[in-house]
Amino acid sequence: MELLELLKERYSVRKYSERPVEQEKLDKIIEAAMVAPSAKNFQPVRIYELKSEEAIARIRGITRCAYNAPVVMMVTVDKNIEWHNELEEGVTSGQQDAAIAATHMMLEAASLGIGSVWVCWFPNTAVHEAFELPENEKVVLLMPMGYAADDSKPVANHFNKISKEEMVREL
Ligand SMILES: Cc1cc2nc3c(=O)[nH]c(=O)nc-3n(C[C@H](O)[C@H](O)[C@H](O)COP(=O)(O)O)c2cc1C
Repeated sequence: MELLELLKERYSVRKYSERPVEQEKLDKIIEAAMVAPSAKNFQPVRIYELKSEEAIARIRGITRCAYNAPVVMMVTVDKNIEWHNELEEGVTSGQQDAAIAATHMMLEAASLGIGSVWVCWFPNTAVHEAFELPENEKVVLLMPMGYAADDSKPVANHFNKISKEEMVREL
C-alpha cells in the first residue's frame, strides 16, 4: 500500500479484540522505532513493552486509556541523553525524539494490520512510580495496540480536518 494511502486509512483504535499480537510483529514495530531519527542521533528514547498479565493489569489500573489493549508500549526519554539546545535555555529534543519514534511504531503497526492509539492523558508520575522507572527517565506517551475489534471504527472526530488554507501558509 502507498504510504499516503496507509496514512489516510489509519485511525485511533480504542476497542481491541483479544487476539494476541504475534511477537514477530511487535519486533518489527520496535525495529521501526529503532530507525527513527533523533536530534544529533543521541537516541534517548526507551520503550517498555507492557504485555505480561501483571504489567497490563497495572497500567489498566492507572488509566482508562489503556482501552483493554493486549499490549501497551510505554515510551520514555532519558533526560541524561536527550539533546539540549544551547541557543535556547530549557529547550530539549526528548519530546520530539519520542514523537518520531512513536510515529514510526504507529505506522509500522498499521502496515501490519495492528491498530493503536496515541495516549498522553494519564498521570505521568503515577505511571513512573508504578513501573519503578529510573529517575533519569520521563514517561512521554503510552501506545496501546492490538488487533481491532470487529466493531471498531473511527470516532466522528477522526474526520474533522482543517483545510489546507488553514494549515498551510505560503511565504
Ligand atoms: C499527542 C497526542 C495525544 C493523544 N492523547 C490521547 C489520549 O490520551 N487518549 C485518547 O483516547 N486518544 C489520544 N490521542 C488520539 C487523538 O485523540 C486522535 O489521534 C485524534 O482525535 C484524531 O483521530 P485519529 O487518530 O482517529 O485520526 C492523542 C493523540 C496525540 C497525537
